[in-house]
Amino acid sequence: MPLPLSTERLILRAPEPGDLGFFVDLFADPEAVRYIADGGTWSAERIRGQQEKKINCLAERGFTLYTVVRAADGQVVGDCGLAPWEDGIEIGWRFARPYWGQGLGKEAARAVFAHARQELGLTELWCLVNERNTASWRIAEGLGFQMDRTEIWHGDRTVRIYRWNAGGERPDAAG
Ligand SMILES: CC(C)(COP(=O)(O)OP(=O)(O)OC[C@H]1O[C@@H](n2cnc3c(N)ncnc32)[C@H](O)[C@@H]1OP(=O)(O)O)[C@@H](O)C(=O)NCCC(=O)NCCS
Repeated sequence: MPLPLSTERLILRAPEPGDLGFFVDLFADPEAVRYIADGGTWSAERIRGQQEKKINCLAERGFTLYTVVRAADGQVVGDCGLAPWEDGIEIGWRFARPYWGQGLGKEAARAVFAHARQELGLTELWCLVNERNTASWRIAEGLGFQMDRTEIWHGDRTVRIYRWNAGGERPDAAG
């Protein structure tokens, strides 16, 4: 298992039960969850279930949404990684608000994307982004994902379904 993944400022490691408090706080922040699923905050119980799923996914599938830690001081800042999706495997990222706008999302996403291709040998990935979530779709497009279609979810939320596949990769895609 090639974990943890390291970048200039970040360490991406396996999720642990001890991360629970951080993600309970993140998903209780209305701004942070605004573009996730139906946009509502999540209960601590739901986060506990999600954390267990992340841990089990790593054991069963060999990938998950990794916990992202700031290398300088060990502060957990979010998660970024891979998750099963109905049509395949999804790449995703969720950071707490104090850590936005510093290029950390892009930095973590690049590391996961390289890991998915080079270590896991994946040849197709999906990325599902609310069309209003500009920072998120800029990360996806920066990695070389291309919009496959849009869908309306949860009544009125337009979601961009991005896809990347190895055959269609742009020569200049991030790596
Ligand atoms: C989406 C998220 C991960 C972005 O992380 P971040 O570290 O703030 O983003 P970065 O600083 O790496 O910036 C990524 C890109 O978005 C742009 N960007 C950053 N903040 C932005 C904002 N508020 N508005 C528009 N663009 C923005 C950056 O300029 C950069 O684009 P570029 O590479 O074309 O220059 C972060 O905002 C987050 O965790 N949000 C809450 C959870 C969420 O919505 N997750 C995604 C679900 S699909």
